This record gives sequence, C-alpha cells and structure tokens, in this order.
Amino acid sequence: MHIPILLGTTRTGNQSSKVAAFLQQQLRTMEDMTTEVLNLGEAHFPMLEERIRKVEDLPPLLQQWVHTFRQADGIIIVTPEYKNSLPGSLKNFLDLLPAGAFHYTPIGIASVTSGALGGINALAHLRLISLSLKGMPIPDRFMVSHVQDAFDEQGQPVSEKLMPQSDKFLRELVKYAKAFRAIN
Ligand SMILES: Cc1cc2nc3c(=O)[nH]c(=O)nc-3n(C[C@H](O)[C@H](O)[C@H](O)COP(=O)(O)O)c2cc1C
Repeated sequence: MHIPILLGTTRTGNQSSKVAAFLQQQLRTMEDMTTEVLNLGEAHFPMLEERIRKVEDLPPLLQQWVHTFRQADGIIIVTPEYKNSLPGSLKNFLDLLPAGAFHYTPIGIASVTSGALGGINALAHLRLISLSLKGMPIPDRFMVSHVQDAFDEQGQPVSEKLMPQSDKFLRELVKYAKAFRAIN
C-alpha cells in the first residue's frame, strides 16, 4: 500500500512539516506500507494561468505528482490554517490538478495551527475541495493545535494524546484505502 503525504504550504520555516514528518514516521512503522512526502514548498509550481487541459507544457514534477496520486491507495494532506482557510498556495496547486486527480482515493486530512482550534476551517474547506477532484475525504481527521509546542527536538509528540489520535487516524485511512481498492 502506498500513501503519499502532501505538505500543503510554501511558507519558509513552516511548522506543518513537523506534522508531515511525524505522520511519515508513523506510516513507516506499518506493515506493507510505503510513503513519501510531497513538499509543496520545494515544488515551485506556477500560478494558474489556464486550465490544465489547455496547457501544453506541464511542469514534469506536476506530471509526476499526478501520477503519484493516480497510483496511491490513499492520500494524506497536511494543511495549516491561514486566514480561516487552507493556504492559497495549496488551493492554487489543487486548481492546477486535472479533473478527477483524486479519483476514488480516500483522503485523510491533517490540519495544523499555532492557536487552540486545530484548523477546523481549513479542514472543512479542504474536504469540500477534495470532493471536486473526486477524492473521498474520510470522517476521521488529525488536528494539531499549538503546533509550535507539540513536538520535541526529535519530532516526537509532547502531548500523550497525539500518538493515539494519529494512530486512529491512520488506521481508519488504511481501512478506507483497503475498501476502495476493490473498486479501483
Ligand atoms: C498567512 C497566515 C495566516 C494565518 N491565519 C491563521 C488562522 O486563520 N487561524 C489560525 O489558527 N492560525 C493562523 N495562522 C497561524 C498558523 O496556524 C501557524 O503559522 C501554524 O504554525 C501553522 O502554519 P505553518 O505550517 O505555516 O507554520 C496563520 C499563519 C499565516 C502565515
């Protein structure tokens, strides 16, 4: 099973990368599982100027990521909350994707904030957007509030709650991934 993790921010020094790294580490402990982090901040995708089907020269990395999504059994998107929503850079990337890029793929969303509310607005908006790409957002989610204090130097969670919460989130995602395999 392959579950890539899309890190959905281009902000230098972002905290969300800690959550992506933690989930990657957790996935790697699971049997028959491979994963990778697709870091939006390193991809330098262009701002959308035209719908993708009309563009002749797609950036090779974008083609590669589209292929990765097509092959994936599930996708995790880690999003911070910016201005009560997901980052504009993540929305721009999702707008660049071809129609149906998440076809029949369960989408697990991890939302991240420095405040107390855990990114509920970004989570809700991203669920809706995932549907437009024919992704299947799962009911479980992984919300990390006070992210700046949530992990130690080794990237391990400080709060006792994060480990069981991430475990449940990932197990649920795998359950959906297995179920959706049958129709893919
Ligand atoms: C442009 C911008 C807007 C933000 N807006 C919100 C917000 O609406 N709600 C919130 O809880 N945190 C907000 N934050 C703070 C983020 O939760 C905080 O930066 C956190 O570390 C996650 O983002 P990061 O991965 O970029 O570090 C905002 C941060 C930025 C850079």
